[in-house]
Amino acid sequence: MSERREVKLGPAQETMLIPLYGRAVEARKEQPMLSDAKAVEIVDSLDYDFAKFDGNRSLAGAVLRGMIFDGWVSEFLGEHPGGTVVEIGAGLNTRFERLDNGACHWVELDLPDSMELRRQFFEPTDRRAMVAGSVTDADWLGAVREHPGPYFFVAEAVLPYVPREGCEAAIGFIRDQFPGSPVAFDTAGAAMLDRIDNHNEAKLMSARFLWPCNDPSELESWGLRLLDSRTVAEPQPAVQAALPLAFRAQLSALALAPQVRTYRLNLFTT
Ligand SMILES: C[S@@+](CC[C@H](N)C(=O)[O-])C[C@H]1O[C@@H](n2cnc3c(N)ncnc32)[C@H](O)[C@@H]1O
Repeated sequence: MSERREVKLGPAQETMLIPLYGRAVEARKEQPMLSDAKAVEIVDSLDYDFAKFDGNRSLAGAVLRGMIFDGWVSEFLGEHPGGTVVEIGAGLNTRFERLDNGACHWVELDLPDSMELRRQFFEPTDRRAMVAGSVTDADWLGAVREHPGPYFFVAEAVLPYVPREGCEAAIGFIRDQFPGSPVAFDTAGAAMLDRIDNHNEAKLMSARFLWPCNDPSELESWGLRLLDSRTVAEPQPAVQAALPLAFRAQLSALALAPQVRTYRLNLFTT
């Protein structure tokens, strides 16, 4: 077996390993919610104690969250097959592998240490750019303009780790430079931030969500319009239909958990 790769990441960056592991665990099941051979390959090649996440309910939640974001991106690509998806804080996400239609373009952005790790597993192509930088710094927008519109911006499990002013600045760049573009990102309510120290997942990671948002429509003051907002327990009908029956049956119980109710996945337009 070849030598495993060392993981050297900052605290917010390390959180990428939870959704990665969630997808790998899911993919290994007999009846998985989604297939993700690449996530399995990456997990197997990293020198990291993934076993500490075993049994954590956040793993399935992260998979479901990814599928809901996939649902919005798929809808966009259905209407605009040659458009560009901009994946902010891509981590080790395999969304391009899951949704590529052979014609779309993809721009992946993440902090330098995260992008360095990502580049060990994914390669840029004519249709796929990989950019190192912070979403709060306008430098990455030039790389987006090199790809054809229209654009879909997605930041899954990223902005809660970025200070609120930085998020407002980042949304401002998108609003001013790509008006009329859909932007999908998640928000965590105050109750979730209060509870987070008690989360099993949070005990395993030092990064914390930095700003509460009880009502995503509050963010319309940033120049956004809210088009859709749902919890991980409320996937779009098409996403729900693709879930294994046993998992679908658990959604209504999941919907009652306070950390699920106050954590929202949102689709806005600028
Ligand atoms: C929980 S992970 C999510 C990764 C990926 N979106 C996924 O769903 O698998 C959070 C990601 O946000 C990235 N991130 C944190 N702050 C960032 C910033 N200022 N600019 C860009 N990415 C950032 C981290 O490096 C990390 O990859």
